Amino acid sequence: MARIAIVGAGAIGGVVASLLQATGQHQLVLCVRRQIGPLVVEQDGVAATIDATVLTRPEEAKPVDWVMIATKAYDAEAAARWLDGLCSAGAAVAVLQNGVEHRERFAPYIAKEHIVPVIVDCPAERTSSAQGERILQRGPMSLRVPDTMLGREFVNLFAGSPADAAAVDDWTTVAWKKLCHNTVGALPALLLKPAGIVRDQAIGEVALDMLRECIAVGRAEGAVLHDSFADEVLDACRRSNPDSINSLLADRMAGRPMETAARNGAIVRKGRIHGIPTPANAMAVALLEALAAK
Ligand SMILES: NC(=O)c1ccc[n+]([C@@H]2O[C@H](COP(=O)([O-])OP(=O)(O)OC[C@H]3O[C@@H](n4cnc5c(N)ncnc54)[C@H](OP(=O)(O)O)[C@@H]3O)[C@@H](O)[C@H]2O)c1
Repeated sequence: MARIAIVGAGAIGGVVASLLQATGQHQLVLCVRRQIGPLVVEQDGVAATIDATVLTRPEEAKPVDWVMIATKAYDAEAAARWLDGLCSAGAAVAVLQNGVEHRERFAPYIAKEHIVPVIVDCPAERTSSAQGERILQRGPMSLRVPDTMLGREFVNLFAGSPADAAAVDDWTTVAWKKLCHNTVGALPALLLKPAGIVRDQAIGEVALDMLRECIAVGRAEGAVLHDSFADEVLDACRRSNPDSINSLLADRMAGRPMETAARNGAIVRKGRIHGIPTPANAMAVALLEALAAK
């Protein structure tokens, strides 16, 4: 049994809560920033209501064994305000966010050796209403962590649940492969068009430029990525549902901030460190940031 706090009861926080609840092993605490009604997670027509203590103020936080950060990356600073109370007895902190800089993002707030970076793959979305929070889980949950002692402890938390949680030798490659898929997402967000826009020949060429930059920088970071991966990712994007809306686009359409800095911005920053030019991603970042400022 572990006491587990989930910071951010959105799409991923909700699915993680339902998986941890399915183990029947843990006490859950939901750390949210506003009063919420019941949190219901639905998959394939089966709904589960999360049974958890709900806290709305970081000052109320008591020590737990594990913290799962499931906010958007741009909310990291505010999410970290929960850590003083939750981690006062040495809790480990799993960061379930996009990008490749999980440790860097939380290093100002918690010792790096307590941080477990998690690559999350799970199509999920949420709707908030006066009746509560409803999360729709559209597919299986995959969680990948580095194969360390803490990583393996994280995986064990999900034992007995349907989560596909695993500790992997080459987490860096997994993370950069995911970032390759994410980098292309900037194009639908810029164009305010669903995923099918990458089927366009010229847009596909831009996507390939962005992907080749991501691959070059990822390799410099130690990821094993072949040249052919750029075409593989573009092909996968072109085969996906043309009407689907990625999270950058959904955030832009809803007038929310976007995870540009954690996604394309990470490629540009890391590229600079390695002396690798990333003009296509840099342009995407500049345009998305200008649009967000507007
Ligand atoms: N959704 C997916 O399908 C998916 C798949 C793979 C990876 N991811 C990644 O997973 C991460 C989480 O994404 P998501 O889709 O779950 O986002 P989300 O649905 O927007 O949920 C984020 C939650 O964090 C809450 N929050 C923000 N600041 C907070 C704070 N200071 N204290 C407590 N709660 C706070 C938000 O509260 P409010 O309700 O008040 O806004 C919201 O409920 C992102 O990095 C995303 O890229 C998502």
